[in-house]
Amino acid sequence: MTSAYRHVPVLLDEVGELLSPARGQVLVDGTLGGAGHASALAPALGEDGLLIGIDHDPAALAASEIALEAAACEVPRLLVHGSFADLDRILLDASVAGVDAVLLDLGVSSHELDEAERGFSYKREAPLDMRMDPDNHTKTAAEVINTYSQPDLVRILGAYGEERHARAIAAAIVRAREKAPIETTTELADLVRAAYPARERAKRHPARKTFQALRIEVNGELEALEKGLDAALRWLLPGGTIAVISYHSLEDRIVKHAFQELAKGCTCPPELGVCVCGNVPIVDVLTPRPLTPRDAEVEANPRARSAKLRAARKRAIA
Ligand SMILES: C[S@@+](CC[C@H](N)C(=O)[O-])C[C@H]1O[C@@H](n2cnc3c(N)ncnc32)[C@H](O)[C@@H]1O
Repeated sequence: MTSAYRHVPVLLDEVGELLSPARGQVLVDGTLGGAGHASALAPALGEDGLLIGIDHDPAALAASEIALEAAACEVPRLLVHGSFADLDRILLDASVAGVDAVLLDLGVSSHELDEAERGFSYKREAPLDMRMDPDNHTKTAAEVINTYSQPDLVRILGAYGEERHARAIAAAIVRAREKAPIETTTELADLVRAAYPARERAKRHPARKTFQALRIEVNGELEALEKGLDAALRWLLPGGTIAVISYHSLEDRIVKHAFQELAKGCTCPPELGVCVCGNVPIVDVLTPRPLTPRDAEVEANPRARSAKLRAARKRAIA
């Protein structure tokens, strides 16, 4: 059953200050969601600007149309059902020469988490699905759990969940599925809890990291982020800004390294005395440390608590 779209935009003021959209500009929101950020940012673009909104969840696109209408946003817009990993193709199709601002607010929306049947939440009984784009014929979480080899399960739980008990959980999954396929979120959550050392079961739910790992694997999230960041940084016009909100350390690390790499200038050893590499900084990092939500925001919206915002600005070519 679908319900009204619910999602509170995170770090909204901070994103607005960093991107500072202006008249006539092109803004890409690569993770449109319910257009919480987009409907606050886009009006500044004016009638000669362009909002390009992307989401691979059709429910998000439908909700964002309504939110943008409600915000009386007269800005021309192009809403695309797809992945920000395909930014090159999307921007070529849009016939823009470059973009002034890019926002990526990663992960799932509150709406996706709360729609039990999507299978993202270990707290609600549902089939193990977890596809952000249910129209896309990619694998489901049930396929991963029931078909991946034990070593592959250990690998994804360790790499994408940073789960210290990956071996014990993978062994428990394989034992259980020998009897019958594991089909629901709560079945998996109970199994993970039982595989956890008893002394650690009382902390945050033991299934949290397993569910994170599965979601990342099912949706190819880290590959998409690397591809999307690379494209966004190439398409930014001089002076253009990219802002990325991440919700776990794997994403944050990718963003941090991508920005650092492009902010690096000459990499020649100092003893050379002269530059032979020719590398020049492409961006300035605007957030040497990531911005995080204030206490009041976390209190009002607990799902903001793990958010980290990083931003970089493309340099003018010398
Ligand atoms: C945290 S929500 C964004 C919420 C939005 N900023 C707002 O204020 O309403 C993340 C959204 O990004 C989408 N998403 C995640 N990865 C994506 C990808 N690779 N390409 C396109 N959309 C993606 C999800 O479907 C979800 O709707």
